[in-house]
Amino acid sequence: MSDHDYQPSSKLGKWFNDRLPLLTLSNHLKEYPTPKNLNYWWTFGGILTFCLITQIITGIILGMHYIAHADLAFESVEHIMRDVNYGWLIRYVHANGASMFFLAVYIHIFRALYYGSYKSPREVIWIIGMIIYFLMMATAFMGYVLPWGQMSFWGATVITNLFSAIPLVGESITNWMWGGYAVDNPTLTRFFSLHYLLPFLILGLVILHIWALHVPGNNNPIGIDLKKPSKDTVPFHPYIVIKDLFALLLFLIVFAFFVFYSPNILGHADNYIEANPLVTPAHIVPEWYLLPFYAILRSIPDKLFGVIAMFASIFVLVILPWLDTSKVRSAIFRPIYKQFYWFLVADVIILGYMGAMPAEGTYLVIARVATGYYFIHFLIILPFLGFKEKTLEVPLSIAEPVLGGFPNEAATKDTYNIRKNL
Ligand code: HEM
Repeated sequence: MSDHDYQPSSKLGKWFNDRLPLLTLSNHLKEYPTPKNLNYWWTFGGILTFCLITQIITGIILGMHYIAHADLAFESVEHIMRDVNYGWLIRYVHANGASMFFLAVYIHIFRALYYGSYKSPREVIWIIGMIIYFLMMATAFMGYVLPWGQMSFWGATVITNLFSAIPLVGESITNWMWGGYAVDNPTLTRFFSLHYLLPFLILGLVILHIWALHVPGNNNPIGIDLKKPSKDTVPFHPYIVIKDLFALLLFLIVFAFFVFYSPNILGHADNYIEANPLVTPAHIVPEWYLLPFYAILRSIPDKLFGVIAMFASIFVLVILPWLDTSKVRSAIFRPIYKQFYWFLVADVIILGYMGAMPAEGTYLVIARVATGYYFIHFLIILPFLGFKEKTLEVPLSIAEPVLGGFPNEAATKDTYNIRKNL
């Protein structure tokens, strides 16, 4: 049934729906034709929505007990951990929740890179996603400052100081951000205010992200355009709903492992020492999910160019739909791209590792090579490959290769013959 034909069954429902078509919207979401070959990598969008809501709910509760003042913040966090009923649980869910959120978003982004989900006509979904990702990093960075531990303070000092590298206005911008001449109480209060605000902005962007997704519909593992609805699609409810819930359950097991068995493993021990502007920690490191960017920043000897390289590493992702010139979306049919994809995955992991190591000696050399390769992948390999690569034959529909129509070269001849004889 198309959205236009839809009529609520009750009189009250019809009355309401004529005035605000929310029921039509929920019907659209239920019936939404989804490609039937989506694999489990497609369940991370739902998992991310769950993560965002969890962060907002636990964050609001933490905000009821936390005190955003340089003299009281550290102690108020200890108070949450020891005195507030289940405060330890809420704090550990929120802190580990941030890591799980980033784990999910990295899987979500690398899924899009593998299957070419950023390509036409889904560029706007991708760009909204990149804005969300950028805001997630800003939110997480400011959240990490709030407990006012040593890493909070020194992490904030290092990162905010980067802005002073901007010619002419850099110092004024940094002082304006600090609300003074160093990271101090005014910095903490404004970070708290923004850390509370940004997740709601992200929520609004997620709604736009999903709205933009519902215009062309989902991409799928073989990356072809589908007729909707057709024999290639299934309604979102109950097929995708139940699959997403099952994946969420598995994800929750991993999440629960961290919260209940290793709640501090992803954090830094120094953050259990109260901030002290007179004692600098031996190694100042950000949270794991920001490490690749930190490695890029430090791999450039000049501060300003380091900052530019760091922002450029995100910007190349924003313009990725135009850098990748291949018409074929999915890596399944792009044998050479598939290999470069895995090189990129390895490169980002190496960058992350180098971000955690001191920026000297061999570590620095490796970080520089990995930074160089990161840009070469996006700026040289991808545009070039689109023209040169010989792609495999792409099937016309999801159902056809299985039902014995157009042969799919990705399946072996034997599988194809067996299916044909069934
Ligand atoms: C709070 C963070 C995010 C949430 C809640 C979210 C949510 C979703 C949902 C529910 C879907 C549909 C299901 C799926 O494909 O998994 C989706 C698809 C998509 N997302 Fe996100 N997303 C987020 C962040 C991002 C980021 C950071 C990017 C990339 C920069 C991104 C890129 C995409 C793309 C390209 C698709 C389309 C995939 C397709 O057509 O199959 N998303 N997102």
